[in-house]
Amino acid sequence: MKSLTDKIVVITGGSSGIGRLMALDFAERGAKTVVWDRNDAGLREMEETGRSRGLFIKAMNCDISDREAVYRAAEKLEAEVGPADILINNAGVVSGSPLLETPDEKIASTFSVNTLALFWTAKAFLPGMLARNSGCLVTIASAAGIIGITGLVDYSASKFGAFGYHEALTMELRRNGSAVKTTLVCPFYINTGMFEGVRSRIPLLLPILKSETAARRIVKAILKNKRMIVLPPIIRSVFLLRLLPPFIFDAAVSFFGINHAMDHFTGRVTEAK
Ligand SMILES: NC(=O)c1ccc[n+]([C@@H]2O[C@H](COP(=O)([O-])OP(=O)(O)OC[C@H]3O[C@@H](n4cnc5c(N)ncnc54)[C@H](OP(=O)(O)O)[C@@H]3O)[C@@H](O)[C@H]2O)c1
Repeated sequence: MKSLTDKIVVITGGSSGIGRLMALDFAERGAKTVVWDRNDAGLREMEETGRSRGLFIKAMNCDISDREAVYRAAEKLEAEVGPADILINNAGVVSGSPLLETPDEKIASTFSVNTLALFWTAKAFLPGMLARNSGCLVTIASAAGIIGITGLVDYSASKFGAFGYHEALTMELRRNGSAVKTTLVCPFYINTGMFEGVRSRIPLLLPILKSETAARRIVKAILKNKRMIVLPPIIRSVFLLRLLPPFIFDAAVSFFGINHAMDHFTGRVTEAK
């Protein structure tokens, strides 16, 4: 189990959803927690919550799709707080419409935030981790990065990209004998509001996850240096299903109602921050 004493944890998209909950959990465990987000109201709320609970939470506005902004924010963070020990790439966006109804700008933004930003944050923080031969990179991907989902073509593709980025970078680190750890996170739907309206056909087998449960399990996995966490674990069966003929794969996807989960998607309609 990693010790968090004096450790600096950076969480992108940390003023909302599971990012917010993970940030509070890390801060309560004694870490110096730095939250990056583009949402000023959410950032202010995080700092106020930190102050009122006596926790170290520093909030910084950083649009992670802006490469130069990421590099500038990383330098500021190192100067004002210190070098990052754990980087959690959590910020994400979803369009939630069929491919031909999705504006080009939304597709580009999905890849900027969900995939490309992972490269910019790694380039900003990994050199320091390698120099110290310690640290941990966490990628919040998705179950949609393991299986393509109807209504999520750009999102799924961006999360498959996140999966590929994470696995290849992990291989590079292992090949080079680095002690820098990595944790890949692939959750099914979580009730944060980001996927408001989605339904699970068989909630007993494939439940919509509670944000508190998901955040707690992810933090534990990071602290235990788990290479990968899939929530709920039954989603791992996708890796086995891929070994079978495609018609069996398609039948399983139909059985679980994966192709219809997005039928009632609205996304976050209220400011449920
Ligand atoms: N919720 C789910 O069902 C689910 C399932 C699997 C995986 N995930 C993944 O888990 C992660 C967290 O999801 P969540 O449900 O907690 O989402 P959330 O509540 O919407 O939180 C995401 C946060 O990221 C911020 N963000 C978006 N783009 C950003 C940018 N360019 N720069 C800085 N911050 C940015 C958002 O700000 P704005 O509010 O301004 O957009 C928001 O505060 C995401 O990567 C998501 O893809 C979620």
